[in-house]
Parts: sequence; structure tokens; C-alpha cells
Amino acid sequence: MIDFNVDSARCTRCGQCVADCPSRIIVMRDHAVPSIAPEKERACLRCEHCLAVCPEAALSILGFSPDVSTLLKGHLPEPDQLETLIAGRRSVRRYRSENLSPELIDRLIAVAFFAPTGVNTRKIRFTVLDDREKTARFRDEVMNRLVRLLEEGAFPESKTYYARFVKVWEKHKIDLVFRDAPHLLVVTAPKSLSTPREDCVIALTTFELYAQACGIGTLWNGIATWAIEQMLPEMRQRLGIPDDHAFGYAMLFGKPAVHYARTVQHHPPEIYRVP
Ligand SMILES: Cc1cc2nc3c(=O)[nH]c(=O)nc-3n(C[C@H](O)[C@H](O)[C@H](O)COP(=O)(O)O)c2cc1C
Repeated sequence: MIDFNVDSARCTRCGQCVADCPSRIIVMRDHAVPSIAPEKERACLRCEHCLAVCPEAALSILGFSPDVSTLLKGHLPEPDQLETLIAGRRSVRRYRSENLSPELIDRLIAVAFFAPTGVNTRKIRFTVLDDREKTARFRDEVMNRLVRLLEEGAFPESKTYYARFVKVWEKHKIDLVFRDAPHLLVVTAPKSLSTPREDCVIALTTFELYAQACGIGTLWNGIATWAIEQMLPEMRQRLGIPDDHAFGYAMLFGKPAVHYARTVQHHPPEIYRVP
């Protein structure tokens, strides 16, 4: 049951919901309000375009009332503000040693969950280390296992660059991998989905931008991702990641101990205009 309801007093029969439905299952017969035939409900993508597009807030679906949604008019950032956020986003490698509140972590994840997913499955899973002690314990385990693998000569040729970080940890206990960040977020998704890895990376990209808008630092963690995914599969279990999940990516986050004053500048991107 998708619980599709139209308030006939509010509905002007403008047909926007009919025209915008990606599955084309909404119909408007004669002068009746829009409806979906029960046998068509299975084709619903649950994207809520019908709720979002209705100018009169006449349409509810999946138990969501349009009156609870945020109106876009007057509430969107200006493009130059968003550009500054995108160009001012930095990889943060210095963190304050304090936890974010559970409420803030929940909010960052809830907003990231608005990211699009293939066929709107939204089956991604957010695995979070929500306490700096937990993150430090996990870091110690990963780094100490990497030290052993390095000693055994198990590092692949292509990853000799990472060996330096592991040696620095071994000799000086300086953390160039997890950067002493208080939190780690890993996003995974069932391998059976059509786009599991893309879904995870898009969610993390969304998480990163929103987190930085909130003054929270983030760092894509390629080394931890490689270590957990390729070298230390037991760490997947340690994090409670289901066996049938594709590993999306790992991201560090927390309050930054660094403040960036300005955006960086890039030379123009390569653009190929197909003749
Ligand atoms: C997929 C991905 C993996 C990354 N892995 C690491 C990493 O393991 N360690 C690290 O310090 N930075 C990592 N980075 C950060 C990049 O080095 C960084 O984005 C780049 O130097 C540009 O800096 P900026 O993000 O501040 O613009 C990663 C970035 C991406 C997109």
C-alpha cells in the first residue's frame, strides 16, 4: 500500500503529478482527482515527485503529508554560496579530540540519506563509530595488523606508498591514516542492487558537503577503505558489515582543529565537446 491520497478541496486538477510521475501510473479521469489503480502501485518508485511537484500541497503518499515538507521558495542557498561551499570544502586531517553529539551525527546521516540511489532503493547502510575511544581502538587494531602484514611482505607492489604510513605508526605512533579523527563512517549496500557502490559514494559526497556546511571536517579515507576491503576482511565483521554488502567507502569526520581562510583555485578542467 502506497497510501496515495489527494485532498479534493485543495487539488486544482492541474495534472502536474500525472505529468511528472516517472512510472506514469497516476491518472486523472474526467474531472476526478488524480489516482493510482491498485494493480499499478507495485510500479511506484516511491520517489515522492507527486508530493513534491503539487503546487497546492494537495497530495500525500507513503504516509507523508506535504505540509511537513520544507517549501523550496525562499529556502534555497544562492548559487554563489553553494559554489563557495564546494570550492571551500577541504580534506581535514587535523581534528579536535572530542565527540560530536549523537543528535548531530544522526542529523548529518539523515541529510546524507536524501542523496539519490539507483531505482530509488535507498538500501544503503551507514556504519558509524560514534565515540572517539571506539574509533581509536578500531584504528589501533587496523594499524597493528597492517604492521604485521608489512613485516610479512604481504603488501602488494602497488601499495608501497601506504607502507610509509604504516612504518610511521609502528615507529612513532603517529597516525597518518585515521588522522586521530574522533569518528569513522562507512557506507555499504547490498551487492544485489543495480548500483551499490555508486549509491554509497554519492551518499558520502552528500554527507561531506553537508557536514562541512555545519563546520564539521571530513576526510575520504582511501587507505582505510583499501585496508578493510582488501587486506583485513575480518575488520568488516568487526564493524558488523553484512557479508552480502558491497563496501562503498570510509570517511573520517569530527570537529576540525584547522580553519581554512579561503577557497583553493584550479586550472580549468578538461572538457571535450563532441563535434
Ligand atoms: C576517493 C578518495 C580517497 C582519498 N583517500 C585519502 C586518504 O586515504 N588519505 C588522505 O589523507 N586523503 C585522502 N583523500 C583526500 C585527497 O587527497 C584530497 O581530496 C586532495 O588532496 C585534494 O584536497 P582537498 O580535498 O582538500 O581539496 C582521498 C580523496 C578521495 C576523493
